[in-house]
Amino acid sequence: MMSAEDNELLCRVGPGTPMGEVFRRFWLPAIGSAEIRQKDGAPKRLRLLGEDLIAFRDSNGEPGIIGAYCPHKLAPLYFGRNEECGIRCSYHGWKFDTLGNCVEIPNLPPNFDTKALQARAKIPGYPVREAGGMVWVYMGPRDKMPDLPRMEWLRVPEDHVYAARWLQRTNWAQGMEGEIDSSHISWLHRDLVPRKTEPPVLQTSPIVKGLVDGAPVMKLVERDYGFVYGARRQMSTGGYYWRVTQWMLPMFSQIPHDSFPRSGRAWVPIDDDHTSVVTYAYRADRAYTPLEIDYIEEGNGFPPPLQPSVYTLPDGYRIDIFESIATKENDYGLDRLRQRTQNFSGIHAITDQDRALQENMPRMVARGFGRNGVGGMVDRGQELLVASDLPVITARRMLLKLAKDMRDGIEPALPQRPELFNVRSASAVTPVGDFDEFLREHESEMLAPA
Ligand code: FES
Ligand SMILES: [Fe+2]
Repeated sequence: MMSAEDNELLCRVGPGTPMGEVFRRFWLPAIGSAEIRQKDGAPKRLRLLGEDLIAFRDSNGEPGIIGAYCPHKLAPLYFGRNEECGIRCSYHGWKFDTLGNCVEIPNLPPNFDTKALQARAKIPGYPVREAGGMVWVYMGPRDKMPDLPRMEWLRVPEDHVYAARWLQRTNWAQGMEGEIDSSHISWLHRDLVPRKTEPPVLQTSPIVKGLVDGAPVMKLVERDYGFVYGARRQMSTGGYYWRVTQWMLPMFSQIPHDSFPRSGRAWVPIDDDHTSVVTYAYRADRAYTPLEIDYIEEGNGFPPPLQPSVYTLPDGYRIDIFESIATKENDYGLDRLRQRTQNFSGIHAITDQDRALQENMPRMVARGFGRNGVGGMVDRGQELLVASDLPVITARRMLLKLAKDMRDGIEPALPQRPELFNVRSASAVTPVGDFDEFLREHESEMLAPA
């Protein structure tokens, strides 16, 4: 049972919180490269770890992620002009580059030396990198900035990766925990009749295999990067079906696959109550074909069809993001006839099925958590966890250790070891029932080439 104090420690990510500081030691996938593809194009509004930001691409093609407000009168830079290598505030013309430096203050007499004022007008401007179709940002202290994690999808050519993101209206941990909950695959995501055969675009392990045994045995081995866990299901034909997931601190996953394409997610906190869910799929062997990309974007695998949206957060700040057409307001397209005849949930798309449950768990609005009465965290003290929740329990323990260490001034070691992220998941039907033996047998397949 989790104490209220630990629950807050796990969930809160705003500036100055221990978990927020933990996240600020890792590179975070902030926005799709394509969302700011155009040089001097429209900036996009983000909130990350409770901090309001804008992302834009300057005249040289350099991406930048900087503070959202002009330091003069606090006007929103989103409304500014992206021109000649910087954003010019549309109120009085002050201008900022991709690092947040104030490069011009034009509304003062020509003989006024603006240098000192420009220095004071510096706004946050965070280091960024582009990889895997995403712009990554590092929001921590500069002297602790690591290299990008060596995940395989960040190292393949751009046309070998598909990445997308969408809004989830929950705390980051609430969504992320669904990612390491293998037992729900057999239930929430069950199809009562096999779906039309789908080309293996995003998911190579047919979920229908989960049908064989709805009570998997969970095995987990902790690693320096997080853990690897296997859900073992008994096959009716003999042998075991293993789904082996990689989970990397603080919120990266790789879903079980036995070949390309491989996929996973990152749960990037917007603030305490909202999450940008980044999904990726990649092939190391070849580029995606245009047909496959069309197929994905039509919502045939996951994600569901996504549409660009401008979402107004409860405190009035608006963010540019994507949303599924299935939302809380339309009960995610829940169809009772479909639930009786087609699938277990009655909701069409896999990630909408997850979101429907996670976004509607009861919230506990504690000590200011959940702004304007919206949001808040699930009361983890009320849960009744069972053996199949082992990965969630372990993840919470590892995350709380990082947050408590951070509170005590102990820095996480993992960000400084980017090579540890070079892992692959696995999935196989085998007579091997012992997890250690399975891992030994699949050791070479579960490491991407250095
Ligand atoms: S508020 Fe931005 S220049 Fe005045
Ligand atoms: Fe799920």
